[in-house]
Amino acid sequence: MNEVTKQLMEHVSIRKFNNQDIPEEDISTILDAAMRGATGGNMMSYSIIKIQSKDTLKKLAISCDNQPFIVDANLALLFVVDNYKWHRLFQLDGIPEAFPAYNGPIINDMILGMQDAMIAAQNAVIAAESLGIGTCYIGDIMERYEYHKELFCLPEYTMPATMVVMGYYDKKPKRRPRFDRRFVVFDESYKKFDDDFIYDMFSDYLEEDPDFVKKFYKRKMDAEFFVEMHRSLLLYLEQWMGPAR
Ligand SMILES: Cc1cc2nc3c(=O)[nH]c(=O)nc-3n(C[C@H](O)[C@H](O)[C@H](O)COP(=O)(O)O)c2cc1C
Repeated sequence: MNEVTKQLMEHVSIRKFNNQDIPEEDISTILDAAMRGATGGNMMSYSIIKIQSKDTLKKLAISCDNQPFIVDANLALLFVVDNYKWHRLFQLDGIPEAFPAYNGPIINDMILGMQDAMIAAQNAVIAAESLGIGTCYIGDIMERYEYHKELFCLPEYTMPATMVVMGYYDKKPKRRPRFDRRFVVFDESYKKFDDDFIYDMFSDYLEEDPDFVKKFYKRKMDAEFFVEMHRSLLLYLEQWMGPAR
């Protein structure tokens, strides 16, 4: 393993930050690394909103399903799927007139933008970790459609893909477990497996607590935040759901 792969193997999400500031030079490096990521068609169909205001972080700690540690972050980067800029260019250049089938960005554009945004976010995470800065993704930024749209002045054909909060930390938590590779990596085609394979995959969790599955479902899928995320995502996605051309 080289230094880069060693660092990747040491990844852990950090949820307890100290109050040390991230130097501007490091923020700049993290943003450059994010923007160096591969991007569909080299279109960079995303925007990054840099958040350093404590006031905004306080608001996000509440609006992102009440996660108080967000306030203690020194920096948050909001990665936004952004088809607005290209759409506006198309409008300005007369694409709707020249190509009447064009009726605004469609689901292809949104998914590619989502992929771009997540690649940029992960590059930012890797760059931050290489500089000794802790990170945590905040998926709950996809909730509270009306509130976040207004808070960040999001135009049409944009939506939050993810947010990464960053800061220095005093103690690094232990690495969290992953499934064994045989449950995740299949050779050449999807593996044919039976139900024992599924039980085997989750055996560590089930041995620790036979009620693990129901408890997990209740905590995640049956929770209020999940209902709210669904409501918000449907509102965001509506914009891209035009008919096939
Ligand atoms: C898409 C995505 C959304 C996440 N959202 C949250 C979140 O809202 N709050 C949080 O504390 N952690 C969040 N996480 C971090 C995961 O909980 C974490 O990666 C997982 O538990 C594995 O732990 P590790 O990153 O320390 O290995 C998110 C991670 C991803 C990839």
